[in-house]
Amino acid sequence: MHPGTAAGPGTARRARPPSLAVCPSTHAEAPTGGRTVVLGVTGGIAAYKAVEVCRRLVDAGVHVAPVLTRDATRFVGEVTFSALASEPAHTSLWGGGEVIPHTRLGRQADLVVVAPATARLIGLYAAGISSDLLTATLIATRAPVLVCPAMHGEMWEHPAVQDNVARLAARGVHFVGPENGRLAGGDEGPGRMADPAAIVSAALALLENLPAVGPERNREDLAGVRIVVSAGGTREPIDPVRFIANRSTGKQGHALAAAAHARGADVVLVTAAGVAVPAGVSAEHVETVAEMEEAVVRHAQAADVVVMAAAVADFRPKTPHAEKIHKRDGVPEIVLEPAPDILAELSRLRRDGQVLVGFAAETAGGDDLVERARAKLAAKGADVVVANDVREPGAGFGHDTNAVVVVDAAGGVEWVPLSSKVEVSHRVLDKVVGLRARRGM
Ligand code: CTP
Repeated sequence: MHPGTAAGPGTARRARPPSLAVCPSTHAEAPTGGRTVVLGVTGGIAAYKAVEVCRRLVDAGVHVAPVLTRDATRFVGEVTFSALASEPAHTSLWGGGEVIPHTRLGRQADLVVVAPATARLIGLYAAGISSDLLTATLIATRAPVLVCPAMHGEMWEHPAVQDNVARLAARGVHFVGPENGRLAGGDEGPGRMADPAAIVSAALALLENLPAVGPERNREDLAGVRIVVSAGGTREPIDPVRFIANRSTGKQGHALAAAAHARGADVVLVTAAGVAVPAGVSAEHVETVAEMEEAVVRHAQAADVVVMAAAVADFRPKTPHAEKIHKRDGVPEIVLEPAPDILAELSRLRRDGQVLVGFAAETAGGDDLVERARAKLAAKGADVVVANDVREPGAGFGHDTNAVVVVDAAGGVEWVPLSSKVEVSHRVLDKVVGLRARRGM
């Protein structure tokens, strides 16, 4: 199983200069404005990749407190983490002049990341056993936890490990990875730790979704606003076993729903995606355009804002076969018909003051992208269109990051450079809040 992952790179300040000197004076004090990540490292070969995770988090402006298990230090030296992190590496419950370091670390953490997480660590954490500084910190903390498993495929697939992962996931622990790939000893299979960039991306997304620090964003500015978000790619049946689909994974729509909820909105998510439904959001699962149309139009009747982030089919098989089409019957001719355009329909049915937001996945950049977004905005009667160039690395389908241009009916054009889908969501919601304010709402 692959429990859910989260999203992408943030733009926070540096927590400390990139000095490699192991000198206590270069270690920043516990942060005031920034966020603190306790980075737990356990004893697996992937521990060397945790060094990269540490460096990237520090580069993103995060205060990183490394906690290494004894076995981790067999793979990577404590001094490496001490040099790169925001404070010296912690390796023991004992010594260091501090009686209860785990509760301090647990309280200080805005997020705990464990990379790599061995089967042993996952088992101890699931069972609530604290046998060293890292497990004690995990049990003491009330911060969100992101676990990045790494082990041999046989171990990852063992029912005991899978049960432990499921137990932790059910308690709200986040997971990223593992992936399929080359493992220690030249083996191939599931169990390879997720890429450091993906881990950092997931960590930053979790940090971004925490209640705001500082006055930069009023997280209650959508309090009581009813928002419908559609997400994912629709599937149009050809026969009971085949369908026409698209590359959308629903991550952007789900991130939008989470961000709107975090800002106080009452969110209904109509989703064709398999990714986890954010906490606090009520979701309706659909598959086809017809199902999505029915659900979105129904919920839109009472909504202040509708965001069509879903990749809705433009065409669908005219008459899906009731039974499976067999090869022996020859190559089937599939006749397509246009699917209803939900966004255009919403604009015809629009309630007074309702804000309509569309998305546009394009293969164009710069002025061309803006032109296409404007054309879509006008054709569909939306207030805002969020367009991206799917050819851009890291932007669009399947990624935890996106780069978009937000175009509005008043002529506004706002570029959002490559950011996490959570951050992109907030920028879209900032636009919605601004529009509503101009309408006196
Ligand atoms: N959309 C919709 N119903 C459809 C197709 C699209 O509501 N049948 C919505 C999408 O959710 C998105 C916006 O319309 O918010 C733009 O979708 P897109 O497919 O990019 O644009 P289209 O104009 O439908 O088509 P084209 O593929 O030709 O660009």
